[in-house]
Amino acid sequence: MQSKTEELKKRKEKAKLGGGQDKIDAQHKKGKLTAFERIELLVDEGSFEEIDMFVKHRATDFGLNKQHYPGDGVITGFAKINGRPVALYSQDFTVFGGSLSEAHAEKIIKVMNMAMKIGVPVIGLNDSGGARIQEGVVSLGGYADIFLLNTLASGVIPQISVVMGPCAGGAVYSPAITDFIFMVKNTSYMFVTGPNVVKTVTHEDVSFEDLGGAETHASKSGVAHFIYENEIETLLNVKRLLTFLPQNFMDKTEDFEFDLENLTPEKKLNEIIPDNPNKPYDMRQVINLLIDDKEFFEVHANYAENIIVGFARIGGMSVGIVANQPEVLAGVLDINASVKGARFVRFCDAFNIPLLVLEDVPGFLPGTEQEWNGIIRHGSKLLFAFCEATVPKVTVITRKAYGGAYDVMNSKHIRGDFNYAWPTAEIAVMGPKGAVEIIFKKEISQAENPDKELEKKLSEYIDKFANPYIAAERGYIDDVILPEETKIKLVKAFRLLKTKVDKNPKKKHGNIPL
Ligand code: HXC
Repeated sequence: MQSKTEELKKRKEKAKLGGGQDKIDAQHKKGKLTAFERIELLVDEGSFEEIDMFVKHRATDFGLNKQHYPGDGVITGFAKINGRPVALYSQDFTVFGGSLSEAHAEKIIKVMNMAMKIGVPVIGLNDSGGARIQEGVVSLGGYADIFLLNTLASGVIPQISVVMGPCAGGAVYSPAITDFIFMVKNTSYMFVTGPNVVKTVTHEDVSFEDLGGAETHASKSGVAHFIYENEIETLLNVKRLLTFLPQNFMDKTEDFEFDLENLTPEKKLNEIIPDNPNKPYDMRQVINLLIDDKEFFEVHANYAENIIVGFARIGGMSVGIVANQPEVLAGVLDINASVKGARFVRFCDAFNIPLLVLEDVPGFLPGTEQEWNGIIRHGSKLLFAFCEATVPKVTVITRKAYGGAYDVMNSKHIRGDFNYAWPTAEIAVMGPKGAVEIIFKKEISQAENPDKELEKKLSEYIDKFANPYIAAERGYIDDVILPEETKIKLVKAFRLLKTKVDKNPKKKHGNIPL
């Protein structure tokens, strides 16, 4: 028995070494951790249970029959994070550059299938040279099997991709199908074709970092939802994100304790909206005063900054916040903001996370650039997402709610559950100046003093429409509330909505305008 035990020990030790000490040192030299070190940082201490440690590839060509590393370049298993179970895989760059073989793919598929059956999030730590070149089409098949499972798991369990090294070619589409992508500054990159191919095809000279580094994907393409300075910070934030999520689509998020009785009005909220309606302010100030402990976990913080989306707790309950940002482009909705918002709303709806909308929006962005690139098609994504969402949905209009954007931003008409407005709200078809110049065009141009006439008409229009009361008279707004009492109202609303049941008509699936 002792020799058998020794053999097991030896085999496990060999597997733990991955591609060997030299390769581990090379990985460290690049400022990267090993696949196992990453898992240790991510999961609760001592909770990781590895499976398939002894799996080997079955390839024989190009001398591969003489190169075997137990585990075949990916560590898979189950662990706990924040006390809750998760499934995970971590690609090991020290073994064939973390490239994906048939066996490697089978290991990932095995943990993903189990994650779906037991209803736990799956986290993929990606660090791979892509398809194992020596295995040819078998490796491509492995990728396709993963893509299919990513798609089938979408909306069943949260899927999180952490890109911690190269992720190139078709391999990018696995993370892209998952719910969230984390990247690490300077050491991770994603692209469909690398700089060399780009140079050949388009004659552009571009570095790895500029083409597909973390900053590029966080600000230009919107591919990355979160980026951090280093791997440790990245993994800590994966843990943080999970605190806001349920385990699966049938689960609810965890509630933290909250003392509503002792919640006092937040006077600072009364000071935020400027007297001049054209002056910007930072919607993050409003968010920070409404959420618990100022802990806002912002998604896509550097992309389409005219809309803010992210997770927080209000009254101890996890909520997804979608807020216009008057400080950037006056909070207007454009293509990128619409897509960013829509994707977030759909995630929250898929996973039973209530939505809070903070609205100050002058409308959709005009212009040929937006029209020709399809603001109609993309703007309708946000509308569709809010319309189909059946989770609790609460809106607070802080200032402008103009035009189509009023309808889109979770209005009463599209099943907003509680719609509040601050007294500073202006709910109208368009802003006063534009409106007056259209409807009183003749009167103004024919007046003895057109400027004076414009002023007069403006003042009439503002008195009549630039307020929340016409909407409130119709019941489109449930209540006009003081800014200072907003948090109390929100906690009560979300508590009441805990038992909300709403359903969409039976169908195969909807056809969101893509
Ligand atoms: C087999 C690979 C590999 C791969 C790297 N290696 N990529 N082995 N298949 N795809 C091996 C290398 O031979 C090397 O082995 C070790 O991993 C480390 O690689 P290095 O090149 O030394 O590392 P580095 O300089 O850091 O460069 C990393 C890299 C580069 C940029 C990822 O290796 C690279 O360009 N690899 C090929 C990337 C690629 O074109 N993949 C196919 C993409 S298409 P030794 O033994 O020397 O240490 C694709 C299709 C997916 O993936 C389709 C889905 C539909």
